[in-house]
Amino acid sequence: MTTPPRVLLLVAHPNPSSLNHALARAATEALEEGGVRVDLHDLYREGFDPRLSAGEIATHASDDAVVEAHVRELRAADALVVIHPVWFDQPPAILSGWVQRVVREGDAFEHAPEGGFRGLLPAQDALVVTTQNAPYVPPDALDRYWRSFVLPAVGIDDAERIALGPVVASDGATRRGWLEDVAARCDALAGRLTARA
Ligand SMILES: Cc1cc2nc3c(=O)[nH]c(=O)nc-3n(C[C@H](O)[C@H](O)[C@H](O)COP(=O)(O)O)c2cc1C
Repeated sequence: MTTPPRVLLLVAHPNPSSLNHALARAATEALEEGGVRVDLHDLYREGFDPRLSAGEIATHASDDAVVEAHVRELRAADALVVIHPVWFDQPPAILSGWVQRVVREGDAFEHAPEGGFRGLLPAQDALVVTTQNAPYVPPDALDRYWRSFVLPAVGIDDAERIALGPVVASDGATRRGWLEDVAARCDALAGRLTARA
């Protein structure tokens, strides 16, 4: 029996009743139905500590077992799915801290001799789902953060991004449409990953 492909899925929102969590549930369900193993982290519920330590900067290792476990999952993932609200044009601090501690040199990327980064992850696919209230005008700060910086650094050059909004004025039908869109994209991702496995 072949082992199923793995997706590391992060959701960063403090309210389990939020749209963000509904999106994470829709994504998880579609991926699992598509035959993918989902390593899901609800960073707020788990109380992920976003504070990078001086020791971690110096050694690229952590005495926090949670960070080491996340690094192992990141290195084992065939794809990443990240779901978060836009807060002051940035990811929530808990997620920025996750990136700073887990997407670390020596495991996720290395410095290339010619400058820039060389990705060390096997994952080739990523889907970033964000929610916001302002109109989305691409490329925005989150495109630059995820699609131009963090994900190419680890070797994912063409990440998918969907910017959902405005959330504050959205009705039930619009939200259902967003959930279906995310589920369809995760279904397609699962199809690509299982075809490759
Ligand atoms: C601290 C904070 C900062 C925010 N900053 C922005 C922002 O920069 N741009 C924007 O469009 N919406 C901003 N918002 C609105 C959120 O993005 C919006 O409430 C969220 O995406 C809705 O998703 P939810 O229903 O899952 O909470 C902000 C909200 C909070 C709480």
